[in-house]
Amino acid sequence: MMRLAVPKETRAGETRVAATPESVKKFKGLGLDVMIQSGAGQGARISDSDYQAAGATIAPDAAATLAGADIVLMVRPEAAQTAVLKKGAVLAALLAPHSDKEAIAALSAQGVTAFAMELLPRISRAQAMDVLSSQANLAGYKAVIDAAAQFGRAMPMMMTAAGTIAPARVLVMGVGVAGLQAIATAKRLGAIVSATDVRPATKEQVESLGGTFVAVMDDEFKNAQTAGGYAKEMSAEYQAKQAALIAETIKKQDIIITTALIPGRKAPILVSEAMIQSMKPGSVIVDLAAGAGGNTPLSRPDEVVEAHGVTIMGHTNLPGRLATDASSLYARNLFNFVSLIVDKKSGQLAIDWNDEIIKGAAVSGAPST
Ligand code: NAI
Repeated sequence: MMRLAVPKETRAGETRVAATPESVKKFKGLGLDVMIQSGAGQGARISDSDYQAAGATIAPDAAATLAGADIVLMVRPEAAQTAVLKKGAVLAALLAPHSDKEAIAALSAQGVTAFAMELLPRISRAQAMDVLSSQANLAGYKAVIDAAAQFGRAMPMMMTAAGTIAPARVLVMGVGVAGLQAIATAKRLGAIVSATDVRPATKEQVESLGGTFVAVMDDEFKNAQTAGGYAKEMSAEYQAKQAALIAETIKKQDIIITTALIPGRKAPILVSEAMIQSMKPGSVIVDLAAGAGGNTPLSRPDEVVEAHGVTIMGHTNLPGRLATDASSLYARNLFNFVSLIVDKKSGQLAIDWNDEIIKGAAVSGAPST
């Protein structure tokens, strides 16, 4: 019988876990043996006995968990953990393929078949496995909750006998999966929400959530999207007009959530120091790109800093601050991926190397042609 193993995450602050009792049960249904390291679910409030009740075997340490494992599932492995994987083993995890090339070279040298879940193609068949989306959605929600908790004022308008409180103004910059959830969350809390993105298609999405879209909407903007749905490089003239509009908008905001990421590259600066300086004291910025260089020049990864009276929050693992939900969605994503590579009748690996999902996510172990 093939063995699937889930060790405890070792990176500082990584509270998530790659399997839940629910996914363990489903893996057993696929005909796999499941080994979970004792304490693996601690950060997500899942006990060893919960896993045991779902049919897993609990191993005392990482060595016992990983010895002989055929499929290993993790959130963010460290090289020391994966060094013990046997030749031919499958690893599926967030592998930071753009920045952690050394670790991937090591896995390749070991003969491990490694899948970087970040690289799944964003096609509809892969949506149920899309860890970037499942985690970004939670990050967008938590960014607004963190900002609201830090903010020294209320979010909604309140009319009381003692007078009226004005609603908070929230600007969301970058309207991908995280940005859309940030807009929805800020709206639910009663804020006045606006948002901006370089992709024209996002205008309608922002408006459908009750937000105001902020962009210079000239002919150039309207034609800015490529056939593939991605942003085009804008002219210098357009960029200057857009920057002036954003600068004016930022002055009036209480909370800014920035989410702009460019895969494999440093995040773009969207809020300059001068713009931060123009904000009211007590304003809050949550920078979801802090781990990728930041959307502001003052963001610091995993730090909350204050500059010019503005608090800038740079948590790099926001999904990990909602560890139970983040783990449960992540575990479902991985189950859906594993069921693609395991033959349901034999319970053995059956990797279709012609499948674009497999080809897209594989970073080592593909048969040479
Ligand atoms: P992301 O996390 O890579 O980037 C976040 C947002 O920042 C994007 O909307 C991007 O356009 C924006 N951005 C980049 N540079 C910017 C700048 N200079 N100023 C303002 N905004 C900027 O994006 P995410 O959330 O991963 O989504 C990427 C795309 O993939 C989106 O179009 C999304 O709708 C699509 N998608 C498709 C899926 C599918 O299965 N069909 C699943 C998930 C996402």
